Formats: sequence, structure tokens, C-alpha cells
Amino acid sequence: MKLLEGKTAIVTGAARGIGKSIALAFADQGANVALTDLSVTEEFEALIAELEAKGVKAKAYASNAADFEQTQQTVDAIVADFQQVDILVNNAGITRDTLLMRMTEEMWDLVMDVNLKSVFNFTKAVQKTMLKQKNGSIINMSSVVGVSGNAGQSNYSASKAGIIGFTKSIARELGSRNIRCNAIAPGFIITEMTDKIPADKRKEWEESIPLKRGGTPLDVANACIFLGSDLSSYVSGQVLNVCGAMNT
Ligand code: NAI
Repeated sequence: MKLLEGKTAIVTGAARGIGKSIALAFADQGANVALTDLSVTEEFEALIAELEAKGVKAKAYASNAADFEQTQQTVDAIVADFQQVDILVNNAGITRDTLLMRMTEEMWDLVMDVNLKSVFNFTKAVQKTMLKQKNGSIINMSSVVGVSGNAGQSNYSASKAGIIGFTKSIARELGSRNIRCNAIAPGFIITEMTDKIPADKRKEWEESIPLKRGGTPLDVANACIFLGSDLSSYVSGQVLNVCGAMNT
């Protein structure tokens, strides 16, 4: 049995990395997928073709998740194309890491807008549809550093901690309408985002993880399948750490 048959999912920032892996895993479970990213490149179009080959409906939308108006327009277009939204994965995110001493106002504002405001933008935009349906699962991509903090990532960590507060509040606010909201806190997941980390630092990180390896995008995608599916129908307002026991 496919776990997401008959469901439609939006995944933001899905052209590569964890978002792409979620899209592929969702399609394998029978979900139709509406994917967003800053632009629709040839590579992104190739992903859509790969998804369609799995027998599901898939479409790419160019959309800056940090932009309130654009997000509303994107969700309107998705609802017109797919008629329903059962799962929203707020995955788009960036880093602008540096010590507070060197952090500029622009670095702070950009990370807050892309990582945190985007979650507000998309959740608000899908709310009407999910309320009408009396069903929905919202999954917000936080991070272990949103739970524990990290030197050199005060902007990123604050944005990811903010996501957790938002998640818990929405779970309380929309629970009576059968809309669930959870956060995932991935640890060290090997993607283009982590490729920026120097090799020696990366090795040091991996050694410090109890499971002795970085996670894969599929490790995170599998947690999303659980939270998006009816297997988790009584799970809401939670933070699921997917981190090889980095955080306990
Ligand atoms: P990535 O950099 O490989 O992919 C992020 C995607 O988001 C890219 O396709 C990018 O174009 C898109 N994006 C960036 N700004 C956007 C915007 N304003 N609107 C729409 N799309 C935008 O990153 P990765 O590693 O796949 O991360 C995905 C999520 O997981 C992020 O929220 C990240 O903070 C979170 N995360 C990643 C971890 C890791 O170790 N890779 C650990 C913990 C959390």
C-alpha cells in the first residue's frame, strides 16, 4: 500500500537537496506534488519529468518563499491546478553563517525572511484550503541548531528556533480543524548546503555523531512521509529530531 495515495503535497525549495528528495519519496508513495523554488531551471524540469514517470501529477513553480504576495499567488495557482493541498512542507532555507561580530543586518534579515517568514507566508496561504478540507499536515524544516544553538549561526539558529514556536502555536490553533503541524530538526545532512563546510570540519562533525555518519536527504524524506501520512494522525505540535542522536 502506498502511504500518500490521493494526497497533494506542496514542497518549497524543492529543486535540489532535501526538498528534491522529499518530492521523490512522496511521489513513490503516490502523492501528487507541487514544487517551488526561486527559478525553474532545466534541472528542475528534469525532476518534474522524473516524478511524472512515477505516475503522479507534478509541477514546478518559480516562487520566492520569502515574498508574501508571491506566495499567495503561487498557492492560488497550485490550488487551481491540483484542487487540494493535503501536505505542506516548508523546506526552503539558506545559511549566512558568521560570528555575531561580523554579521551584517542584511545577513540577519535575509536568513529571517527566507527561513522564518516563508513558513508564515506558505502556512497562511494554504490555511483556507486546509480549513475547507478539514484536513492537513504541515511540516516545517527546522534544524538541530534551532533546538541547541550553534556558534557562528546565531541568525540561522534563531530562524530555526522561531519555526519551532510557530509550529507549536499553529498545532494548537488549527488542531480542532484536523490540521496538524510538526517540525523536523535534521542534524548534519549531506547536501549542497553542507558541501560548503571544509572537509576537516566535516570529518570532525561526523565523528561526534553517535551513529557515526552524516544523514542522507532520504533519511529526512522518510520522516516527512510519516508526518505527511495518516500513520501520524495523532502526532501534532512535535519536533522530530532526525540527527543520528546528535541531539538527545
Ligand atoms: P539546499 O541549499 O541544498 O536546498 C535549498 C533549496 O531552497 C534550494 O533549491 C534553493 O534554491 C531553495 N531556496 C532558497 N531560497 C529560497 C527562497 N527564497 N524561495 C524558494 N526557494 C528557495 O539546502 P538543503 O540542505 O536541502 O536544506 C533544506 C532545508 O533543510 C533548509 O531549510 C535547511 O535549513 C534545512 N536543514 C538542512 C540541514 C543540512 O544539514 N543540510 C540540516 C538542518 C536543516
